Amino acid sequence: MPTETVYGLAADATNERAVLNIFKIKDRPSFDPLIAHFAHLDHVREFVETIPENLNRLLEQHWPGPLTMLLKKNDRIPEVVTSGLSTVAIRIPNHPMALKLLSGLDFPLAAPSANPFGYVSPTSANHVNDQLGERIPYILDGGPSQIGVESTILGFDENGPVVYRLGGTKVETIEETLGPVKMALNQSSNPIAPGMLKSHYAPKRKVYIGEIEALIDEHKGKKIGVISFFSRHQAVPEAHQIILSPKANLDEAASRLFSALRLMDKLDLDLVLTERFPETGLGRAINDRLKRAAV
Ligand code: TXA
Ligand code: MG
Repeated sequence: MPTETVYGLAADATNERAVLNIFKIKDRPSFDPLIAHFAHLDHVREFVETIPENLNRLLEQHWPGPLTMLLKKNDRIPEVVTSGLSTVAIRIPNHPMALKLLSGLDFPLAAPSANPFGYVSPTSANHVNDQLGERIPYILDGGPSQIGVESTILGFDENGPVVYRLGGTKVETIEETLGPVKMALNQSSNPIAPGMLKSHYAPKRKVYIGEIEALIDEHKGKKIGVISFFSRHQAVPEAHQIILSPKANLDEAASRLFSALRLMDKLDLDLVLTERFPETGLGRAINDRLKRAAV
């Protein structure tokens, strides 16, 4: 199903057999919990213990939208969805087709990104079809995903709010409402959120991050692809470079990032060069995904 972030591989979250199928189709390890998607906050309330009062304003501001909240689950959410954790990841996607689908159901949809585990997330129906087309009965085509990077994951520890994954909701806007938030982006050996594994979102082509002109010099003689923020690079064939946002707009760059990485995998290249983006707004999520793609 389409969402505003990336396409999801959806199944009835209350049906264990259906949920297990998601793991099978994605080759996803069972310790990596799923996000449950809803159309309405009232429906969410039936599947969690409570929604803390102090979250009301945040949720009003960001739902529907690219913010996933970790909340204490009740027993209507089966353990397979949460990999045995006591919290469940919940979000209300901001996409008309997804909302229409969800409002016609009396159960939430568990949906991870619709890609084989570890690969770049899909931002169009074609991306999904390229890799999972043979393994799933149908794809709802809702057009290209507007945001283009996954949702921001927000939870709480004993001291307050914690961001577990940078994504489509800007940390700055969360902080305007909740105050300073902590970051826990690199849980290594026993990750709470395996989307945070160091190597993830990894394309096939080797990715290098740095000053693009210098990297071009360093790799002279090789078949080079470039993904840049807004600049063109003379030494690289036009067909082998993708400029994410000629106007230097980070939101636009984020929306085009994953299809750029996928395109590079289709070209005959030795490596892909890219750069560090400004560490603000969606630039943070872009840098995060590029770092994981480059490991
Ligand atoms: O934008 C998105 O969030 C997309 C669309 C389809 O909604 N979904 C998505 O799902 O990115 P997925 O499964 O690829 O990533 C979900 C992440 C995983 O890294 C998982 O570990 C984490 O959420 N997660 C899920 N439940 C969790 C929990 N209870 N505690 C901590 N992390 C959790
Ligand atoms: Mg994923």
